[in-house]
Order: sequence, then structure tokens, then C-alpha cells
Amino acid sequence: METTTLFLVAAAVITILVMVYSTALFFAHSPRLPTPSELKYRTNDANNQHYDLPTRIDPAAEYVDHGVKLTVVVPCYNETKRLGNMFEECVEYFKTHDLTYEILIIDDESKDGTPDYALSLARKYELKPHTVKVVELTKNRGKGGAVTHGMLHASGEYVLFADADGATKFGDSEHLLEYLKAHTNPYGSIAIGSRAHMVNTEAVVKRSFIRNLLMYGLHTLVYVFGIHGVKDTQCGFKMFDFNSIKRIFPHMHTERWIFDVEILLLASYQGIDMKELPVNWQEIDGSKIDLVKDSINMAIDLVVTRVSYILGIYKLNMNGHSKTI
Ligand SMILES: *[C@@H]1O[C@H](CO)[C@@H](O)[C@H](O)[C@H]1NC(C)=O
Repeated sequence: METTTLFLVAAAVITILVMVYSTALFFAHSPRLPTPSELKYRTNDANNQHYDLPTRIDPAAEYVDHGVKLTVVVPCYNETKRLGNMFEECVEYFKTHDLTYEILIIDDESKDGTPDYALSLARKYELKPHTVKVVELTKNRGKGGAVTHGMLHASGEYVLFADADGATKFGDSEHLLEYLKAHTNPYGSIAIGSRAHMVNTEAVVKRSFIRNLLMYGLHTLVYVFGIHGVKDTQCGFKMFDFNSIKRIFPHMHTERWIFDVEILLLASYQGIDMKELPVNWQEIDGSKIDLVKDSINMAIDLVVTRVSYILGIYKLNMNGHSKTI
């Protein structure tokens, strides 16, 4: 080859790499640290005081027994219409099960009074103060950001994140907890609520063609980007043990819809045990997903997340050492 051709090829390759790198850098998320008020919570006590959340969990954290077996983290944005049902199902479940628990509501700057509504529910069911903790994010972070904040400040030995719409039957958390108790792993374990068993059932078949097409497209991308063992990555019902929390959540970048995939990516790179378990699920009205727009954003986020890890824009910081995955 002539030197000029060689030069042109090299220039083209470098240009493409720089473009990919800067595009990833442009879309990359770098989560902000919590503000002081986001490290406080309110509960249903008489004087509406603010209390300190437990210290943020970091990769080197040791498990501290706070006397809580299970924390339920509920990310909320404008949930006054849907939270009530989920809350009732959850509280009824704990009434008949011998399990210490807390419900950690992470309000993502709702505009409809969700935090006070959550506290009124705690009063309605006469829960002991500090069973329900309401944290208010001062600036909207997105569902992934809210879940991450909750995970890093949960007191429970096990932590379930559950969507506020109550689409998953709360009683199914029992199978997830049983699984985690029976499968300890030095790197941690995750039990993933899954709707994969419903693919051929009415609930899914009834969905529109475009919705199913987008779903298959997303599944393909998720597969291409390195998650092979999990069929349903997006179900809002996942339970973690302490070891998996400290290996995953201090490293999270993605704040919006595709954060589930980053969780699983971080888990698969660190040898964390992942198990999909079938859950009962029904579609609830009032979803805030804009199908086409959000699918495009999900696809962008997915590519950005994977490329950012490959290029070292996102790193896994383990005990002071940065690791590219
Ligand atoms: C949230 O609630 C506020 C007040 O009710 C409303 O103006 C806003 O549009 C809602 N946002 C979404 C995304 O539903």
C-alpha cells in the first residue's frame, strides 16, 4: 500500500475511534452524590422529624445487623394513584409472615404529594414508626438513581426493589428470599423476578405487535451486549443479598430505564450468582413509559453503557483499583 493510503486509513480509524469515544462520553452518566437532605428520612411519628439514614454502603463495607431482615425499596414518581394497592398487599403479607422489615420509599421529586401520601398509608395501617421510611430526592434522578439510592441506604440483610404499581404479586417475594437464603455465594446472589414464563400467555400475546417487536429488539441488544443467562431483565422485582449490593450499587452509572441491564452486567462480571424465578405479574394502568421514545432511549443507553465500560469511561472501582470490564 502507498503511504498516503495507509495514512488515510489510519486517519479514518482514529477519527472513528475519537467519534465513538466522544459520543459515549457525551451520553455517559455520572451520578451526583446525595444532598444532605437526601440522607435523611421521615416516618409516621408524631412530630414529623427527620432522621439519619444508615451510612452509605461502599464496596468495602461489612454487613451490619440493623435488626431488619428485608428492606423493600420502592422508587416513586407521582404514585398517589398506584402506591396504595401495592402498599396494602405488602403490609398484609408481612402481617402473616414472621419477618422483620422496612419499606424504604425513595421519592424521585414527585409533584403530586407522594411522600406525604406514603406517610398517611403508614398511619392508616398503624405501622410502628421507622417501619416506613420516606426519603425525598431534591432533584429528579430517574428510577435507576432512586433504586440505587435506596439500595445504598437500606438496613435489611436482604433488599427487594419493587415497583410502586404493584404489578408483581408481593407474596412472590417469598420464593426470592428462600432462594437467596439457600444460595450464599462469596460474591453475592441476586434473585430476579421474571415474566419469561408468561411469554406465550394471554397477557403478553394480547400486547400490540409494535410492543412485542420493540421487546424482541431490546432482548436482542441485551444479549449482544453480554447478558446471556437472564431472559427478563426489565421486571421491577429483584432481590439482593448484602454481598451483591456492595459489589453492584456503589458502581452504578445509569439512572434511567436501562439501569437493570447495568446491574446485571456488573453482576455477571463479578461472579455474582443470578437466578431468574417466575413471578405472577399483571399489567397495571398508568405506566409512564412512552413506548417508542423510551425504546430509543433504552437502546442508546444500552450501547452507551457497554461502550463506556469497554473504553474505560465507566470503571469498576474495587478497593481503590480501577478495573475496565
Ligand atoms: C406529575 O404530577 C404533576 C402534578 O399532578 C403533573 O403536573 C405532572 O405532569 C406529572 N408528571 C408525570 C410525568 O405524570
